[in-house]
Amino acid sequence: MVDGKHIMVTGATSGIGYAVTKDLLAHGAHVTAVGRNEQRLDELRQLGGNALQAVAFDLTDFERYENLVSSIAPLDGLVHSAGIVENNPLRYFSMEKYQRTVAINQTAPLALISELARSGKLNTHASLVLVSSILGTSIGMKGTAAYAGTKAALAAFAKVMSLELAHRCIRVNCVSPGMVETELVENARQLSSQAIQADKDRYPLGKRYAKPMEISSTVRFLLSIESSFITGQNIIVDGGFSVQ
Ligand SMILES: NC(=O)c1ccc[n+]([C@@H]2O[C@H](COP(=O)([O-])OP(=O)(O)OC[C@H]3O[C@@H](n4cnc5c(N)ncnc54)[C@H](OP(=O)(O)O)[C@@H]3O)[C@@H](O)[C@H]2O)c1
Repeated sequence: MVDGKHIMVTGATSGIGYAVTKDLLAHGAHVTAVGRNEQRLDELRQLGGNALQAVAFDLTDFERYENLVSSIAPLDGLVHSAGIVENNPLRYFSMEKYQRTVAINQTAPLALISELARSGKLNTHASLVLVSSILGTSIGMKGTAAYAGTKAALAAFAKVMSLELAHRCIRVNCVSPGMVETELVENARQLSSQAIQADKDRYPLGKRYAKPMEISSTVRFLLSIESSFITGQNIIVDGGFSVQ
């Protein structure tokens, strides 16, 4: 149940965050949707009406976090879905790409949650969900050291933050998807359709990637009272890929 809860979603303008936002609205939540894409933010305003506040914000603009947090009402939940993936193999390692990835995937959620906690914007019993990846929590893939490191950090954050915030019954968990059908995957893959199907064939449950709604339903579970004794955990949603 997320009915009447106020949830902030980062990365609300695309992919998993977009699906989470639509799902939360459909289940009666009020959403503060954060992203940079103005067109998508407008679409969300149309979709959510009074139940949605759309905020155009670059989450790597750390100097402005105080302004962002002071402008919102206290939260019952946060979903950090904003993130980027860039191939960055060891032999061609790019410091610029690395720093870009760390800034949005890793520093942003830590700085944001820290600011929310410091300024009293997390209600008692709030639930925070960090969207990680099996590449950080379960398996290795060539070329992804920078990305995987940021995603592993989120699982570590969930453990530490869950302890620091438990005295206020605030829970912190991760969701780690395998491949999901989103723009991020479209942009990251310059592969033939045969190669993509061969990759999908490695997913035991249905030989396909996850649909964004299959991630958002898990996120909604973690935001709701139904998961009231789960904290510091990482839930893998990958159709059985990582248990092979
Ligand atoms: N898709 C997958 O297969 C997959 C698998 C495992 C984990 N994940 C993780 O799931 C999360 C969402 O992935 P996705 O597939 O939904 O990606 P996506 O469709 O590319 O969406 C990424 C989102 O991040 C936002 N974003 C990126 N940089 C930002 C910045 N500097 N400031 C504010 N917002 C920023 C984008 O907002 P704007 O477009 O408005 O800038 C967009 O809403 C990511 O953290 C990703 O690592 C994805």
